Amino acid sequence: MNQKSASLSKGTITGNRYTFAPRMAKTPKSFIREILKVTERPEIISFAGGLPSPALIDVDGIRRAADTVLEQDGRCALQYSTTEGYLPLRQFIADRYKKRLGLTISPEEILITNGSQQCLDLIGKILIGTGDHVAIERPGYLGAIQAFSQYEPEFHPVPLMEDGPDIVSLNLTCRTHPVRLFYGVPNSQNPSGITYSEKRRKDVADVMKEHGVLFVEDDAYGELNFSGKSLPSMQTFLPGQTIITGSFSKILAPGMRMGWVVAPREIMEQLVVAKQAADLHSNYLSQRIAYEYLLQNDIDGHIRKIRAAYEHQRDVMLRIIKEEFPETVTSTHPRGGMFIWMTLPDGCSSMDVFEQALKENVAVLPGMPFYVDGGGSDTMRLNFSNSTDENIITGMGRLARVIRRMSSS
Ligand SMILES: Cc1ncc(COP(=O)(O)O)c(C=O)c1O
Repeated sequence: MNQKSASLSKGTITGNRYTFAPRMAKTPKSFIREILKVTERPEIISFAGGLPSPALIDVDGIRRAADTVLEQDGRCALQYSTTEGYLPLRQFIADRYKKRLGLTISPEEILITNGSQQCLDLIGKILIGTGDHVAIERPGYLGAIQAFSQYEPEFHPVPLMEDGPDIVSLNLTCRTHPVRLFYGVPNSQNPSGITYSEKRRKDVADVMKEHGVLFVEDDAYGELNFSGKSLPSMQTFLPGQTIITGSFSKILAPGMRMGWVVAPREIMEQLVVAKQAADLHSNYLSQRIAYEYLLQNDIDGHIRKIRAAYEHQRDVMLRIIKEEFPETVTSTHPRGGMFIWMTLPDGCSSMDVFEQALKENVAVLPGMPFYVDGGGSDTMRLNFSNSTDENIITGMGRLARVIRRMSSS
C-alpha cells in the first residue's frame, strides 16, 4: 500500500509522499529555530535566541573532569547504565535542594533526563491523553507548548501578571474544566522574565489543592536569580502535588544535555517506564563528567559569576530601553534568568519590528508563538545573556530607532 492510501484522519498532514500522524499537525514548528536560521549571519546582532553566554562555559574544567572520568573509570563510563541515572549525581541534586531550598528529596525521587526538555515530553507522555485539559501560563514557554502538543491536549492559557499567574483566571479555568496539570516557570520565566512572588506561589498552591491539580514547576532558571536569594519552591506549599524539572544547561553547559525531574514515587514509576521506552537512559558519560566536574570545582562560585555577568547585561539592556526607547514601550524587569519581555506601543506589530530590525542587522523574537490562543502580536522577547555590552548598546540603539520610526509613522 502506498503511503498516500493509508487512512487519513482529521488533522492528519500529508506531504507529497508521506502521511504523518495527526499529532504532528497539532505541534507548532519551533518558530525560534526558524528565526535562528535567519539570524545566523555574522553581521547580525541577535537578541532572538536563548543561549547562555559561551564565555561562561568552563571548557577547561569540563575537560579536566572528562579526563579524570575516562582515565579512572573509562570502560564503565562508556557502558550502558540504569534508566534512573547515576546515583551520586542524583544524591548531589537532592543535597542541593536541601541546601538551597530546604526541600527534603530522596535520590529515588529524581530521574536524570536528556536536558530538562525531555522531562516535558515524558510528563506529557504519562499524564496527557488526547483532549485532556492542560493549563499553561500566557505567554508560555514554547518548548513546553511543543512538547505537550504532541499529546494533543486542550490548552487553557492563564495570564501572567507582574507577580505570577492571574489567580481569578486560574481558579475559573480549574473550576470549569477537569484540568490535569498546570505548567509554569515560577523563577525568571521564559519568555517574560517574570518571577512569582511568594504570596502568589501560595495562592497558586491553594487553587491546585482545591481542584486536585498537579503543578509542573519548570525551574530551568532557579539558580540564576541575581540576588542569590531563592524564593520557596512550589513543592514547599504543595507537597505530593508538584513535579519539579531542573537543568544543568544554564549553569554548566547546554550541550551536555543534562536535566532531571523530581516527582512523587507513583509518578516516578511511570516516568521511568516512559524514559526506558524513549532512550533507555541519558548519556552516561555526560552524567559522569557532570558529577566529576561538580566534585572538582566550586559550582557556587561559578554560578555567582554567571549571575553577576547576566545581571550586568540585563542592566545595560534596561538602561538603553529607559534612555532611548519611546515611553510607550513597556518592559519587564527580570530578577534573574536570560530574558526581557517588551510590549510595543499601540498598533505596533512585533512581526513588523522583526522585519525592519533585520534590515538594520538586529534580530528580535516576536512574541506570538508563546501564546496558545493567538494574541501577543505587540510583544517580543529580548535575550541578554548571549551578547556583549557593546552589542547590547549598538543593537538596542538600532532597535530603538526602528521602533521610534514605526510608532511615529
Ligand atoms: C523554561 C525552560 N524550560 C526548559 C528548557 C530546556 O532546557 P534544557 O533541555 O537545556 O534543560 C528551557 C530552555 O531554554 C527553558 O527556557
